[in-house]
Amino acid sequence: MPRQMILATTLDELRTARRLLEGTVGFVPTMGYLHEGHLSLVRRARAECDRVVASIFVNPTQFGPHEDLARYPRDLQRDLSLLESEEVDLVWTPTEEEMYPPGYATWIEVEGLTRRLEGAARPGHFRGVATIVTKLFNAVQPHKAYFGQKDAQQALVIRCMTRDLNFPIEIVVCPTVREPDGLAMSSRNVYLNPQERQAATVLFRALQAAQAAYQQGERNAEVLRTLMAEVIASEPLAQMQYVSVADYDTLEELQTISGKALLSMAVFIGNTRLIDNIVVG
Ligand code: PAF
Repeated sequence: MPRQMILATTLDELRTARRLLEGTVGFVPTMGYLHEGHLSLVRRARAECDRVVASIFVNPTQFGPHEDLARYPRDLQRDLSLLESEEVDLVWTPTEEEMYPPGYATWIEVEGLTRRLEGAARPGHFRGVATIVTKLFNAVQPHKAYFGQKDAQQALVIRCMTRDLNFPIEIVVCPTVREPDGLAMSSRNVYLNPQERQAATVLFRALQAAQAAYQQGERNAEVLRTLMAEVIASEPLAQMQYVSVADYDTLEELQTISGKALLSMAVFIGNTRLIDNIVVG
């Protein structure tokens, strides 16, 4: 008989439902407006754990004052029916008031790693992410938690935080899921008009160009950064924010690639900010 998916809104409801879940628990935290990328995390959790918990919460503290919090896409009914078809056991949809009640004053800061790339481009972003993920982990108490490689720096920050704060949770990072033309799946892709949607493939094209050069033996990081920047510049609707070739563990910009490296970028397509990355080495 199919199991019934439990819906929790308040922290009390979540805790009561969580206590009834036996065996290993896999957790997929999301901001909703689910796509195949999220569902791949849910499927991996389903395959690896006895029970699967997902959360849907558009976390205001990880958005900058001029970012897209107000228009971030939402469709709770659709999300719930997708999660139900993936046989998720428990979905938590907390409210902003419960997560950040009046007088809320406690924050989690991961140093070092968060100063670069997305952290430099979006001040305060990782403070919001680390804080909400800590709160979600504390409430859900999963054995494993699942994140996408598309947000590579987020995954590194959460791994560091999990280790530093002694959470007994295994962080599992799953491959980026792409559209057939290479565009990385993202809830923000919905902002793109048809011309922008076509132009958005420039991120993957730039990464592919750099990967091809790497495979042909290029190890000079600046040459790869320039190559990616040139591909992006060739697309009239694209405005590059940064391109990076960084050490995979520290995210320090490299001069020469000698080990594992993260090739990443943030690009505006019209008003929509997209990120993407690949790993080489
Ligand atoms: O990757 C996301 O969707 C969010 O940053 C997360 C991890 C759910 C925290 O709000």
